[in-house]
Amino acid sequence: MPKTITITGAAGQIGYQLAFRIASGQLLGIETTVNLKLLEITPALEALKGVAMELEDCAFKALGKVTITDDPSIAFGDSDFAFLVGAKPRGPGMERSDLLIENAQIFSVQGKAINNNANKNIKVLVVGNPANTNALITSANAPDINPKSFSAMMRLDHNRAIAQLAKKTNTHSSQIKKVTIWGNHSTTQYPDITNALIGSEKAKSIVDQAWIENDFIPRVQKRGSEIIQARGLSSAASAASAAIDHMSDWELGSSADDWISMAIPSDGSYGISDGIIFSYPITCKDGEYNIVQELDLDQFSQESIKASEQELLEEREAIKHLL
Ligand code: NAD
Ligand code: LMR
Repeated sequence: MPKTITITGAAGQIGYQLAFRIASGQLLGIETTVNLKLLEITPALEALKGVAMELEDCAFKALGKVTITDDPSIAFGDSDFAFLVGAKPRGPGMERSDLLIENAQIFSVQGKAINNNANKNIKVLVVGNPANTNALITSANAPDINPKSFSAMMRLDHNRAIAQLAKKTNTHSSQIKKVTIWGNHSTTQYPDITNALIGSEKAKSIVDQAWIENDFIPRVQKRGSEIIQARGLSSAASAASAAIDHMSDWELGSSADDWISMAIPSDGSYGISDGIIFSYPITCKDGEYNIVQELDLDQFSQESIKASEQELLEEREAIKHLL
């Protein structure tokens, strides 16, 4: 059965990576035909035409039809999976929250278009920053779609945390499991390795608390800025890769002996306010996700998580007219 996949901002940096990876079968496997619906703003339609031409030139076996449009109602028509990437990125010296007001309107329009045109079982991943609150706006504007269908991307932070821990311990990232990113995709996020394993050993018995607090946590929290400083542009290939990881685990299931980090509507787990789009440790099975429950949180963890919750509550307050 072919699947319809929407990518917004498809002529941008991340979109240019994502479209080709999905069309090559990296999201749902080579056996599943994907029809791509690519959305851009009108001035970028010419560039988007070029993207469509290149997709055609790849002769991908898994690629069905490609639609390019500047009309959200067409882009989200019958959509099964939507990657909401189209939004302004931050530049040097900015925080992601500085984009809140500028990008918010995009997600209110797209939420309505999803509500009126998409498959009711759609899975939505918001990548455009500030991703968590943009996901909240999108969901609030799509009242006929289950709020559980809306998520925001923390997988890049999750992958960054794994990579930093692997580097520090001179191991391979494939040996690292049970890392969690809690909270917001911002510098208040809490990268947590309390339960992390390196092979069968507890990570905390290998690295010391000083490294965790003074190096690891700030490094992961600020990795986006570090990339912007180095590239002059925000992360793109790693973001597209994380977007594929997120959506494919959600649809096809996550590893049985591990968990991932996804920002999803809080159900009050771990004392977090209901409804904000908060990152938790998550397992996925049969196309559904579940929050990993009953992890012990020490005082440092609790305080870190509360700080990120507080920031998300403030972001929600700033855009409440769009909810
Ligand atoms: P980009 O500027 O290269 O591309 C964005 C594209 O979106 C542009 O082509 C633009 O024309 C398009 N666009 C703007 N408004 C649109 C609209 N209303 N509808 C459709 N398309 C629209 O930016 P990028 O580097 O691809 O980054 C995109 C977003 O993703 C930024 O907000 C960035 O901060 C964010 N990002 C998030 C993460 C994450 O982990 N959540 C990681 C990296 C980047
Ligand atoms: C990232 O984490 O790389 C993205 O959110 C881009 C940014 O602004 O940091």
